[in-house]
Amino acid sequence: MSYRLVCKSDEIREKSMKMFRVDHTEVLVGRLYGRLFACNNSCPHRGASLVKGELKGDNVVCWMHGYEYNVFSGTLENMKSWKKEDAWMEQSSEWRRSGDLTLYPIMEKEGTIYVCL
Ligand code: FES
Repeated sequence: MSYRLVCKSDEIREKSMKMFRVDHTEVLVGRLYGRLFACNNSCPHRGASLVKGELKGDNVVCWMHGYEYNVFSGTLENMKSWKKEDAWMEQSSEWRRSGDLTLYPIMEKEGTIYVCL
């Protein structure tokens, strides 16, 4: 594992996130409360692209099924949205299962952001 240059600091504004390809890995980089985070862009639930989601509190909300993951701890915080409609019948509880986000160490130095993969 080594730190890789991702972008200039001013590309990641407060309460925003962007996806970068580092080697063959899609890395989501964002900033909340002035603090940077980096995680794999693939949703741990079913692999949707998290950059298409939105930030809510400390969480990134996946656009596909609405699961919420804490961007600093990686923890799955909310999966209540799995049943969007009362009429929705669950075929298998396995479908709901999700791991946590894969986080990467991130640092900012002299106006440049680096992630460790
Ligand atoms: S793929 Fe992200 S919540 Fe299902």
